[in-house]
Amino acid sequence: MNLKPLFVFAVSVVITAISFGAAERTTKDLPIGPGFDTSKVIGPADCIECHKHSGGVWENTPHHDSITGVHRSKEGHAIAKKMDIARITRESLCINCHATAQQAADKTHLISNGISCESCHGAAGDWMKRHGEFSDKEEGEETEEEIAKRWNDAEAAGMLRPSMVLSIARNCVSCHVVPHEDLVNTGKHSAGSEFELVSWSQGIVRHNNFYSKGQENKLASIEKQRLFHIIGIMAEMEIVLKAVATAKAKGNYAIKNAKRFSLLRKRLKAVNQVLDNPQIKEAMAAIVDLKMSLKNQDAIAAASEQVTASLNAFAVLNDGSTLSAIDSLIAKEEDYKMGSVKQE
Ligand code: HEC
Ligand code: HEC
Ligand code: HEC
Ligand code: HEC
Repeated sequence: MNLKPLFVFAVSVVITAISFGAAERTTKDLPIGPGFDTSKVIGPADCIECHKHSGGVWENTPHHDSITGVHRSKEGHAIAKKMDIARITRESLCINCHATAQQAADKTHLISNGISCESCHGAAGDWMKRHGEFSDKEEGEETEEEIAKRWNDAEAAGMLRPSMVLSIARNCVSCHVVPHEDLVNTGKHSAGSEFELVSWSQGIVRHNNFYSKGQENKLASIEKQRLFHIIGIMAEMEIVLKAVATAKAKGNYAIKNAKRFSLLRKRLKAVNQVLDNPQIKEAMAAIVDLKMSLKNQDAIAAASEQVTASLNAFAVLNDGSTLSAIDSLIAKEEDYKMGSVKQE
């Protein structure tokens, strides 16, 4: 018997139960940045000791010194002033998305000038040692069970691995969508990036160069690109819908997120046109006629919950191998986001 549908059923039941329990929706429920336990953050230096090729790529990305750049920029100061923030590098709201912070004793401090390894792979205090040691053996001498256990332990301790596409997608959009109404409407901060997971992960931030020992910085496999394409759209959509569902005013925040939803709906429609998939159909049915109006917030919240349930199910059931119908929709190399490397 195939257990997967049962598991999916369980997942949707849990989600429905949780959302019915929520008395009132507020912006506070929305994730702002990755939200890991900062007391477990150890900093990029340890990672780079073993992963120097990853470090070499990361150092040249806009992530690397984001908070320093914001702190020094006119635009950053203008936002801080409007938000009544004295020091950007001490303000958790900014640090959440522009840096990686570490909580030590009673003090929170930045462990890098920007967004470092653990912002994307999880705070590593409980998994760093174990994932990169070979169960007290030499490399290549562990049994299959030992290898599986080592990775399971790392995941249980909060490691975000490249194979965990849904968690990775949600993690990227926890920063690249900006679900904070005041910051956008009052602070005049951007409402988020023109994000798209394939093109944004395969350009300047790509560092698939560890297993090739630095010989090659590989593109994600085509199976993974398909998952990135679809899961990326839906992960962004669930949070963008939540943003509109909880918006309090008809300002830039509500308007920009509503526009963004329309774009995402077009992308999902295109997928639905070429791919016969029950979860995509289900999600599409919930959003196809959805009106983006503050009067319609209850329906928008409900649609967001359906997108979440469909997305969770889709991610469990698909490994990308049966999704070749969407290949012509996937971003091409000329679309990859090369970013702008910050100059000191
Ligand atoms: C002691 C050396 C060492 C340190 C320190 C280290 N790693 Fe690793 N890492 C490894 C090794 C070895 C592997 C591959 C293990 C294998 O082949 O089974 C690995 C694999 C990985 C992978 C790929 C996982 C996968 O699913 O294939 C990621 C991501 C990663 N490390 C991130 C990090 C981050 C982030 C840090 C710092 C918090 C870090 N590592 C620190 C040695 C290390
Ligand atoms: C939810 C995540 C999030 C929060 C919170 C956030 N930012 Fe940003 N910020 C971003 C993203 C993502 C971008 C890039 C937007 C793009 O791609 O156009 C950005 C861009 C910027 C920029 C323009 C680009 C640059 O790096 O100079 C400034 C300035 C800035 N943010 C300042 C701030 C300040 C100040 C705060 C705190 C008051 C803050 N941000 C809080 C996510 C966030
Ligand atoms: C912006 C988020 C982000 C940051 C920052 C980041 N990673 Fe990654 N990392 C990813 C993603 C996403 C993948 C998988 C990409 C793919 O499959 O195309 C990955 C893949 C990897 C891999 C697997 C490489 C391979 O050869 O397959 C390792 C190892 C790794 N990261 C280590 C690190 C280390 C060490 C740092 C810090 C120096 C770091 N990462 C910073 C998101 C990030
Ligand atoms: C902790 C928050 C955070 C996470 C997680 C994060 N980013 Fe970013 N990212 C930012 C911010 C903030 C910027 C803007 C940096 C700047 O200019 O200061 C940025 C910039 C970028 C850029 C450069 C864009 C440009 O216009 O130059 C790319 C590409 C990118 N991110 C891709 C990703 C991908 C892919 C992921 C997930 C694998 C990811 N990011 C995860 C916060 C984050």
